Amino acid sequence: MAEQDIVDRLTDDHNGIRALFGQLDTTPADQRGDLFRHIVSELARHEAAEEAVVHSATRDDVPGGEQIANAVLEEENQAEQLMAEMEQMDSTSEDFLIRFRRLRDDVLAHAGHEEAEEFPLLREHLDADRRAQMAAGFERLKGMAPTHPHPRTPQDPKVRAAAGPIAGIFDRARDAVRKVFSSS
Ligand SMILES: [Fe+2]
Ligand SMILES: [Fe+2]
Repeated sequence: MAEQDIVDRLTDDHNGIRALFGQLDTTPADQRGDLFRHIVSELARHEAAEEAVVHSATRDDVPGGEQIANAVLEEENQAEQLMAEMEQMDSTSEDFLIRFRRLRDDVLAHAGHEEAEEFPLLREHLDADRRAQMAAGFERLKGMAPTHPHPRTPQDPKVRAAAGPIAGIFDRARDAVRKVFSSS
């Protein structure tokens, strides 16, 4: 099997996320919550693995990459905050839909920034072997990140008050990624 390139792998993931957001305008109000949770789960795994494998390489090994890495990380944080806010809302409401559209616009703009500003630099400054290793690492990390909110969270008022399931799923995706790094 031909080795994958991290840029192709990430672009495939972005296209999957674009396709999910593409369902928003035709999804009935009572099913928007399910679409939202599916997107949260996909994004949490994508961003956690991307932060560990990709933005870290951009920061450390691409000339001038620190500024780009900081900018895309800030966009990821803002999207995460918007998702945490949406989690508290009635998913059938008009306000939820307005925020869902904003989330779509923000996340797709973010993916566009990575594709236009970050990925070409990875191709320019990292060789094919490194990019194949990154693709394998990304795949492995994505497979290990949790896909659902922690089952204990809804029953534990203290945990719920501190951080809702959305904050939790992003944190756990990052924890899973860190554990893989510290054990390898
Ligand atoms: Fe990202
Ligand atoms: Fe991405």
